[in-house]
Amino acid sequence: MKLAISGKGGVGKTTLAALLAQVYADEGRQVLAADADPSPCLAGALGFPDELRAKLRPIAEMDALIEERTGAKPGTVGGFFTINPRVDDIPERFSVVNRNVRLLEMGAVDLGGSGCICPESAMLKTLVTHLLFRKDDILILDMYAGVEHLGRATVDFVDALVIVVEPTRRSLGTAVQIKQLANDIGLKRLWLVGNKVRNQDEADFLRAETPGIPVLGMLPADMAVQEADRLGIAVYDHVPALRESAQAMAALLAEEREA
Ligand SMILES: Nc1ncnc2c1ncn2[C@@H]1O[C@H](COP(=O)(O)OP(=O)(O)OP(=O)(O)O)[C@@H](O)[C@H]1O
Ligand SMILES: [Mg+2]
Repeated sequence: MKLAISGKGGVGKTTLAALLAQVYADEGRQVLAADADPSPCLAGALGFPDELRAKLRPIAEMDALIEERTGAKPGTVGGFFTINPRVDDIPERFSVVNRNVRLLEMGAVDLGGSGCICPESAMLKTLVTHLLFRKDDILILDMYAGVEHLGRATVDFVDALVIVVEPTRRSLGTAVQIKQLANDIGLKRLWLVGNKVRNQDEADFLRAETPGIPVLGMLPADMAVQEADRLGIAVYDHVPALRESAQAMAALLAEEREA
């Protein structure tokens, strides 16, 4: 199952990505989590130990590798370079594994038509397409806001786009925009996840105001989430309420996929 997670800045995309990754990993499934944020923080959310985190570097920043594979230095425009460089060895070579979650940092990814035509975007595009083709059991893509960077060609392989929202109209407004973009590229399977939900009123608000996107579940607001971050441990381990909500979501996703 291939999941992409999107939503407005700061709503909890990375928190949810880490939770779902660990839920599936603890069920014994093979998980590849890909951090597509220009300033990666999925490793922290997963509670990866420092010595593993030290080994990670976003692929987008590996200038020598990008040059070796594409034939051009990153940052150059207008020259000749390969638009489908070899990437099949990259997931294993540059990822680290902890508690059954394999983590790859990609850095800024732009898969849509808007990005620059440059060696680094060719490299990242090819890599994401490769990840979507790979036979990993579970792929979780932690995107940054929006889905512009999710190209048309990749859509057929994404099982679901999960849009995270806070119980605010502003955050729902972003969900509407993401839904529009998703429709434009033909992505049909969308889910809404409410995060930082403080009470029944807020949950009701989201269920009533969802822009036609089915609700996968809600994650409660919990001060312990920030505490986990401060302590450098995973929310999955530190906050049972969020772990349990994520377990229910993972079960629903698996169920829906089989139906
Ligand atoms: N359920 C929650 N309760 C309380 N705080 C939360 C909750 N979920 C996330 N947070 C806090 O909100 C902040 C943003 O969370 P997170 O990094 O997961 O969001 P994001 O959408 O990935 O952000 P970005 O757009 O920067 O990538 C963090 O400080 C996190 O600790
Ligand atoms: Mg994030």
